[in-house]
Amino acid sequence: MTQDAAAVLVELEVNGEAVAARVDPHTLLVEFQRAHLGFTGTHVDCDTSQCGACTVNLDGLAVKSCTVLAAHAAGGKVITVEGLAAQHRNAAGFHPVQQAFRLPRPAVRLLHAWHDHGDRPLSAPARGGHPPRRGKHLHRARGQRQAWAAFLHSPHAHARILSIDVEAARAAPGVLAVLTGADYAQTGWKGIDHIPNPADAIVHTQPTFTEFLTGSVFNQRHLPLPVDKVRHVGEAVAMVVAETALQARDAAELILVDYGPLPAVVQADDALAGNAPQLWDGVPGNLCFQARIGDADAARAAFTRAAHVVRREFRISRIVICQMEPRSAIGLHEDGAYTLISGSQGSVRLKMSLAGILGVASEHVRVVCPDVGGGFGPRTFLYVEQLAVLWAARVAGRQVKWTSDRSEAFLSDHQGRRRRDPRRGCLRRRRLAAGARP
Ligand code: FES
Repeated sequence: MTQDAAAVLVELEVNGEAVAARVDPHTLLVEFQRAHLGFTGTHVDCDTSQCGACTVNLDGLAVKSCTVLAAHAAGGKVITVEGLAAQHRNAAGFHPVQQAFRLPRPAVRLLHAWHDHGDRPLSAPARGGHPPRRGKHLHRARGQRQAWAAFLHSPHAHARILSIDVEAARAAPGVLAVLTGADYAQTGWKGIDHIPNPADAIVHTQPTFTEFLTGSVFNQRHLPLPVDKVRHVGEAVAMVVAETALQARDAAELILVDYGPLPAVVQADDALAGNAPQLWDGVPGNLCFQARIGDADAARAAFTRAAHVVRREFRISRIVICQMEPRSAIGLHEDGAYTLISGSQGSVRLKMSLAGILGVASEHVRVVCPDVGGGFGPRTFLYVEQLAVLWAARVAGRQVKWTSDRSEAFLSDHQGRRRRDPRRGCLRRRRLAAGARP
């Protein structure tokens, strides 16, 4: 709940229950439902009012709750997808396809018992009760004296940071701290040590393909906030910690960064060209690692004997994962120990990586993984925000939470595999006899 003096009281009926909360005046109805009421069946999937994932029934009309201020909905009656489930418990009114997704009641009971450890009734009317739908995602987590973090992101793909002016942000309402890469350098902590294709969660700097490597492996420490230059659009440049999420975001917009733009490339293979801009000083030619795998002599012999040789180039575009729940992280620092609560695809890897960065024994780092809300790979590795909330918690002396919105996720989530894959293969009796790169 906000501590801002400008907060407004919003009273609503949601799924037949009266609810009330004091919120920042520019809180959206969808944020009110998700963060304040815990109705996470309403989603934010586009940030641009196009997808409809945030649709609710407001006073008899379907509205996109990402386009309505909570304050404007005050006094109204809202039905969320959870309320629909409660109203249609007997499936009347559902299309047969929708009915097919409904679970038999014993299965629902079992899932609730498993999920809630038996501490919540099966059919709480306002929550729908059926079908089971409430994950324990961080959007709902709210600790005592919880502060919020927001990040300012780079609009440049590659640029020198000439100066950062944070004075106006520091003076903004509710701001507890404004932190930059220069401040991080004062901590004495290291950067994130992610390498391509680590082999092991415990020894996370151990590369795979060791027997096939033909050179060194990229191992450049990645600071949570850069000191000298930015290296991709959306890289976090500064962090604001404030009493509320909206105050943190508003203050981040007051930070002035003077950039000196540098040449950039868009396609991954363009980064390997001889005249490509150099991204990291210690990684010549921007090459992460190179490995040769397979039996070159056998492949050569097969091509020599082949009746037909075909050449194709396969291109796979870069992808952005769009998980149901965007990334979130809560950092705590108590008695010299750090706790990170964040949905991930492996707490052990994060814990070992954080202990090395923070310079503490792994027993002093706890990583908790609640319901993730979709993984698909990008949540495997440690993100700058997960490290930064621990830093912010130590600076502010408070529990600090950050949660991404969809637009931020497109800028700052790890992206997947843009591939250009030239291949040649030789055929014998219409079957592939051997394949190789040209
Ligand atoms: S239309 Fe509201 S989140 Fe997409």
